[in-house]
Amino acid sequence: MIGRLNHVAIAVPDLEAGIAQYRDVLGAKVSEPQDEPDHGVTVVFVELPNTKIELLYPLGENSPIKAFLEKNTAGGIHHVCYEVDDIIAARDKLKATGARVLGDGDPKIGAHGKPVLFLHPKDFNGTLVELEQV
Ligand code: CO
Repeated sequence: MIGRLNHVAIAVPDLEAGIAQYRDVLGAKVSEPQDEPDHGVTVVFVELPNTKIELLYPLGENSPIKAFLEKNTAGGIHHVCYEVDDIIAARDKLKATGARVLGDGDPKIGAHGKPVLFLHPKDFNGTLVELEQV
């Protein structure tokens, strides 16, 4: 059911330092920061040959990244995103196995303008999983 790894999202406590590290130390192609007010994050896309890394930094008071960084002060992997062909079919199949979908269970439009869902980390080995329909 799941296809390619679309991205790994890493919450960073210092966005400029994170950008500099990926661009200057690791030598990756790094985008300009993009504010995503609907998601409460500022995102930087790091383009790798086979996938992307997204550096996430809190935007606004209700950012979901804020609490994560309070628990993980050095930053950390926030979620992984797998591609699916049909997000509704994937959701229904997962729900039938007892996996919990976050929110109201309906896909939202994600940072790439495509439908996404998040799956409860407790159902996936402590890892927040994002599904993106491509
Ligand atoms: Co994501």
